[in-house]
Amino acid sequence: MNVGDRVGILTSGGDAPGMNAALRAAARVGASLGLEVVGVEEGYRGLLEGRVRALDLRLLDEAARRGGTLLGTARSKTFPTPDGQARARKTIARERLKGLLVIGGNGSLTGAQTLSDVVAVAGVPASIDNDLACTSMAIGVDTAMNTIVEAIDRICDTASAHKRTFIIEVMGRDCGYLAMTSAIAAGADAVLVREVGRDDNAIVDQVVRAMEAAYTRDSGKSRVLVVKAEGVKLDSARLKEAVDARIATSLPDVDTRVTVLGHVVRGGAPSAFDRLLGARLANCAMRALHAGQTNFMAGWLGPGITREACSYDPYVVLTPIDEVLTETARLMDGESPLARWRKRIFEEIDSVLIR
Ligand code: F6P
Repeated sequence: MNVGDRVGILTSGGDAPGMNAALRAAARVGASLGLEVVGVEEGYRGLLEGRVRALDLRLLDEAARRGGTLLGTARSKTFPTPDGQARARKTIARERLKGLLVIGGNGSLTGAQTLSDVVAVAGVPASIDNDLACTSMAIGVDTAMNTIVEAIDRICDTASAHKRTFIIEVMGRDCGYLAMTSAIAAGADAVLVREVGRDDNAIVDQVVRAMEAAYTRDSGKSRVLVVKAEGVKLDSARLKEAVDARIATSLPDVDTRVTVLGHVVRGGAPSAFDRLLGARLANCAMRALHAGQTNFMAGWLGPGITREACSYDPYVVLTPIDEVLTETARLMDGESPLARWRKRIFEEIDSVLIR
């Protein structure tokens, strides 16, 4: 790219803490390279509606401390349609965009790829679900994990005081990563994830076993904390009913409660790690776009990633978007080596936590 070339940035899909830090870094790095970086409001919806605006560095400096996204985000249903595509392309031409930096998850990257014939595209992974391949962490995961652990620590006070069992449901869409990692960090007694493939009866069994081990053995435990991933299709209220029915005679004095953490998990000030992750990924994405690269995602190095780090940062890998999408599908279908490793850990953890 040349000095003065215009690059648009958008945030798309579910917001994630750290998106603003990525925006700030992209805007600053772009400016330092002589590019004109502009913001597209509300993701692809704003792109097809032509809502493009200048970025205010001072506002971004402040926003970087906050969750959400200064640009707004959306899950546009119109964008993938022929009409949506044509309108987005019109905006790109009218605004003379040479590059488009997309900060978001799986659907957002798919969207970016559809425009790669008219503009250079780069992706930065952001989603609390950590369901994207080719990056060991997405922006927002670390903050969400910390939020869940803090919430579970609070719930644990009540659970211990009343000798109760709490089923704590956490977000993550179809991915059990957030549930698993926060359950370990918070010292939970059981974790329920979709990936293990248990049917409803087996899930109820798992909770009842954890309760019997805690309350009827001489275990010294005064509470049971069960972390349930959103991806487990058995409704949490129905799970509680089924568990209550099963323990009615064996543990008559034990109460169960359900807490659905919901969107609480997605908000809040980004952790230092998420701010830095957003900044480092956006830095590399902007530099690579400037150097003429296109159709890639900047991901964070880690297990299962075989590509070499890029020249801008020893922790950042640039992977073609189509490879990211293929590997992500394999991760969610349980077919990739990383998916198999996660499933093994999900299976092994049961007998570790129950003690
Ligand atoms: O993808 C992030 C996420 O928070 C998921 O964990 C959750 O399933 C979904 O978004 C909720 O989406 P919405 O905010 O549209 O209800």
